[in-house]
Amino acid sequence: MKITVVGAGNVGATLAQRIADMELANECVLIDILEGIPQGKALDMWESMPCRGSDCRITGTNDYKDTANSDIVVITAGLARKPGMSRDDLLNKNVEIVKSVTAQVAKHSPNSILVIVSNPLDAMVYTAFKISGFPPHRVFGMAGVLDTARYRSFVALELGVSTKDIQALVLGGHGDTMVPLPRYTMVGGIPLPELLSNERIEAIVERTRKGGGEIVNLLKTGSAFYATSSAVIEMVESIVKDKKRILPCAAYLQGEYGYKDIFMGVPIKIGRKGVEKVFELKLNAAEKAALENSANAVKSLIKDVKLS
Ligand code: 2OP
Repeated sequence: MKITVVGAGNVGATLAQRIADMELANECVLIDILEGIPQGKALDMWESMPCRGSDCRITGTNDYKDTANSDIVVITAGLARKPGMSRDDLLNKNVEIVKSVTAQVAKHSPNSILVIVSNPLDAMVYTAFKISGFPPHRVFGMAGVLDTARYRSFVALELGVSTKDIQALVLGGHGDTMVPLPRYTMVGGIPLPELLSNERIEAIVERTRKGGGEIVNLLKTGSAFYATSSAVIEMVESIVKDKKRILPCAAYLQGEYGYKDIFMGVPIKIGRKGVEKVFELKLNAAEKAALENSANAVKSLIKDVKLS
């Protein structure tokens, strides 16, 4: 198993460290355009392997030849948000970065599975899909797992219960229109609406929608990376170990939920071959309307990518 992480910033480097610590690959390559940064960070991580009890060979490079024949490539490259910026403000800059990265990755690892993390997420997955020419089951994006993790962590805080007992689902685009689904949120098997008032649930939903921005406003110089990299790990682990986890991810829709030719957050089954199934839920009128609103935001970003 060879995994490449593109982008040696906070998300990419933390992710590479987690991959190596967990021995999810024999080989992990960290690549970035900045000279010395991926090499230095990877060497530092490699030197931590004896203490971590792992022997994942982790290396850093600026040359895509070193990433050749990766089984999984996670693309985190791109600029991160600064306070006051929306994820969408990043589109013009990051679309060029994701285009050039994807072209290199597709050339050197034509059989890889691509997991996209760059923002604005749904539009960047679409870009990688179009540029790579890979089938849709081998291109998907991380966002729903992060959004759901935030939502679950806030529910656990509110109720004073273990995060382990919160099962939940956030649909839609990775933006302010995302759609957390309280009706599908379970706390140790108990539906959330039985435990909290609508008002408290709505406050948690709103905090979840703004969860990325809350971190950006605190950090001031970048965006979230601990929860972000943990979310990617859940997806990568499900591929590597063929776990068949059901996780909300930005997947290619071909008529599901009434949408075509867009990437948007929906529950999917992830195994060794990538996306094995898209699950379609029965939504009520309010949930449908919220998803429609989110799909419209995603469509308008995808239009700005100018690849359709
Ligand atoms: C987040 O939600 C940066 O989009 C990322 O934190």
